[in-house]
Amino acid sequence: MRTEHYKTIAEEIAAAIRSGALPAGTRLPTHRELARERGIAVATVSRVYAQLTAAGLVSGEVGRGTFVRDQSGYSGLEPRRLPLPTRVADLSFNQPLAPGQGETLRRALRELANEGDLEALLAQHPPGGREHDRAAVATYLLDRGVDVPPGNVLVTSGAQQAIDVAVAALLAPGAVMAVDAVTYPGAKLVSTARHVELAAVRCDADGTDVDELEALCARRAVSVLYLMPTVHNPLGFVLGTEHRERIAALARQRDLMIIEDATYAFLESVAPPPLQALAPERTVYVGSLSKNLATGLRFGYLVAPDHLLSALTRALRTSTWGSPSLITTLVTRWLRDGTVEKLEAERRADAQWRQAAAREAFADVDYIAHPAGYSGWLPLPEETRADQVAACLAEHGILVSTGDAFAVPPFAPNALRLALASVAGDRLGVVLRQVAEAVVRG
Ligand SMILES: Cc1ncc(COP(=O)(O)O)c(C=O)c1O
Repeated sequence: MRTEHYKTIAEEIAAAIRSGALPAGTRLPTHRELARERGIAVATVSRVYAQLTAAGLVSGEVGRGTFVRDQSGYSGLEPRRLPLPTRVADLSFNQPLAPGQGETLRRALRELANEGDLEALLAQHPPGGREHDRAAVATYLLDRGVDVPPGNVLVTSGAQQAIDVAVAALLAPGAVMAVDAVTYPGAKLVSTARHVELAAVRCDADGTDVDELEALCARRAVSVLYLMPTVHNPLGFVLGTEHRERIAALARQRDLMIIEDATYAFLESVAPPPLQALAPERTVYVGSLSKNLATGLRFGYLVAPDHLLSALTRALRTSTWGSPSLITTLVTRWLRDGTVEKLEAERRADAQWRQAAAREAFADVDYIAHPAGYSGWLPLPEETRADQVAACLAEHGILVSTGDAFAVPPFAPNALRLALASVAGDRLGVVLRQVAEAVVRG
């Protein structure tokens, strides 16, 4: 009887949360309060809250209470989204988060509230950030092989905005941007919105086909190259120095600009020099702290040569006016006090571990990935349709992306793309084995 009672109460509260009657952030009654209200034992309340916690609907914070979790989340690029209650695992978007990171944010907000100049945060900040924000990013980038003065750095709202701003500043509508045949979907979105034509260059696990890139640039009036030379998303390749030098020479010979996307570059500890170092006068280097710190903070940056700064700043001002003061201040503190460095080291270990689990699960099928990357690419045999495998996995609550989200026509790879970062570590192996079985079954 008693068992039913705690379940009934838990279901009642769960229904109120799901219907929105108890919105995200609502503080639920304390154990004692609820016990008194319902005429039940405190131990029964503990069971109610434990059940709601296990269902992911509430979270308890010692000394602070029990709160309704914010489940709004990310609805993704994929049309095939699942309602949260049926979602078992999201392998469609990389959102790495270390346990306890919420506490790091709480502490930093407290410190900022206690010692920071809050009035200064309410004033308008310049587009691209203040000098010392830009300096923090410039120092951080030294380890990536990017050595520029702070004035050549602009802070953005994530790498996505940096790409958009670069495309807006570098390409007129109708211009042509060369990209890998399998590329980051956000770059595809930007090109559509900015009316820029994409010209696809074949690529595989070893990288961009530079011969084909040279031939394309001889044939067509390409004006910009968008590339991810270090830990490509989704193929994970790292272009070798020789290929990078050929790309830099090609860009010089044909007077092309380069957008170098280094969002995942931190996962490669010893990378060849970035394109930015090989052709600094024509490269806009973009990145963010989304994959090494947190996607929700929307902190990114771009690095550009002097002659592009005013066009880029104008484009940045057009979309945001000034840089977001609170986030920029918080993140630049973390850049300076070693928090980012520490989290990056943890992420590298985490990604390596996740990739090892993937290699094990996909030992019997074709699988392409960087050994310490957060993404994986599963090319499927001709007779197996990627959309059917994805639909079948979705029925079991597992979300994956199909290759078409990453493909640039005329290329249409029959593949699945997996994002390994978001699934809880203790469930990853089981989920990946389910994916492997679905692929083998077809
Ligand atoms: C290669 C690549 N570039 C840029 C981005 C955008 O990142 P941000 O969250 O910093 O806008 C992503 C996000 O997944 C990405 O994978």
